[in-house]
Amino acid sequence: MRRFRIEPGGHLQGEVQVPGDKSVSHRAVMFAALASGTTRVTGFLESADCLATLAAFAAMGVAHRREGNALVIDGVGLHGLQAPDAPLDLGNAGTSMRLLSGLMAGQAFDSVLTGDASLSRRPMARVIEPLTRMGADIRGDAAGRAPLHIRGGRPLRGITYRPPVASAQIKSCVLLAGLYADGETRIEEPGVSRDHTERMLAAFGVPLRRGDRRVSLQPVERLRAADVAVPADLSSAAFFMVAASIAADSELWLPAVGINPTRRGVIDILLAMGADIVLDNEREQAGEPVADIRVRSAPLKGIAIGGDQVELAIDEFPAIFIAAACAEGTTRLTGAAELRVKESDRIAVMADGLATLGVDVTVAEDGLTIVGRPQAPSFGGGHVASHADHRIAMAFAIAALRADAAITIDDCDYVDTSFPGFVSVAAAAGLAIRSERAAS
Ligand code: S3P
Repeated sequence: MRRFRIEPGGHLQGEVQVPGDKSVSHRAVMFAALASGTTRVTGFLESADCLATLAAFAAMGVAHRREGNALVIDGVGLHGLQAPDAPLDLGNAGTSMRLLSGLMAGQAFDSVLTGDASLSRRPMARVIEPLTRMGADIRGDAAGRAPLHIRGGRPLRGITYRPPVASAQIKSCVLLAGLYADGETRIEEPGVSRDHTERMLAAFGVPLRRGDRRVSLQPVERLRAADVAVPADLSSAAFFMVAASIAADSELWLPAVGINPTRRGVIDILLAMGADIVLDNEREQAGEPVADIRVRSAPLKGIAIGGDQVELAIDEFPAIFIAAACAEGTTRLTGAAELRVKESDRIAVMADGLATLGVDVTVAEDGLTIVGRPQAPSFGGGHVASHADHRIAMAFAIAALRADAAITIDDCDYVDTSFPGFVSVAAAAGLAIRSERAAS
């Protein structure tokens, strides 16, 4: 196990090339595999999560190779996947497990989806339920968790599904099953969820009907291979956006970052807190909006965060909480109970770590309240547990920029699930971070 040690202070300068978007990379592999023809994916995120997806498709007979900076995938067609010899191990990747459950429900063969300890604790009833209504035979354990056993060869029927929570993973799971179903599959969501699946399905030639928080599709004969240029991951960029905001005398450039409107909540939340963030050269890349982002140090102020803002920034709260701890006044987050079922319980785990570093934090069932300390130091030093959650580890790493003593963080191997190379990228930007092998 690796742990991070970060010495206090530092200024951030220069250009940070953030790796590819995790959500888009997973989907690129899936749709390329199902397409007729060959797809070139550039900017693919070579992280543990996305490599688990790639390995799952390799186990089902989908060939891939690296050509220069491209990942080249030979699609086998919608009905060309082969039965894997063993359970498909998706590691830590919730996106992979939930999307694949919908896809596997439509196959002619049986499959089993497994994951690591964290993934095996996460709720899967949210995909089992709609898939069962579509006619699938899919079972988890008694508590509705992985491993998921899926019997193939079941005829699926299109349904109209209204999920209880807005979730791109549930929506995408049902849409993928819908590709194999009889009739129309329709999803009507209670809030906004990221729309990478819809954008990429359209790019692969699948007609969709889209409205406000609703989407539907009809089964198709084929997906048409389409090259994908994956944008840099806004969720990874968020750590550097907060870092450059809270560190003194800092200015960072983050090129070609995805700013999809269903994902860009962190930008708007930080702007509302007073951050100095400029989006430059806005353009489209493979159907996704991207921009070069410039961030400079700025005094931040606490705000209330709730409603639709939560879904638009769902993965960025660990970073946003660090910004809040450095802001003038109080930041209050409500309506964010979903944070409790991410890679860790991000409300409890962040609150524990913030309290360890001396921050005044109060926990509620669906959020928390943080009283900021705008004058450095905003944090004491200390030892925090990441609970094997990549985003918790990266959030506390940047807190050291405003701490008065070193911060050490346990269990940091999981950072590789979304941001391989984080330590060297952060160190090059000016964070005094090193990765060390922990005793156990
Ligand atoms: C993701 C959707 C989100 C997000 C996750 C990635 C995706 O989860 O938290 O990190 O790629 O579809 P939900 O769909 O469950 O909100």
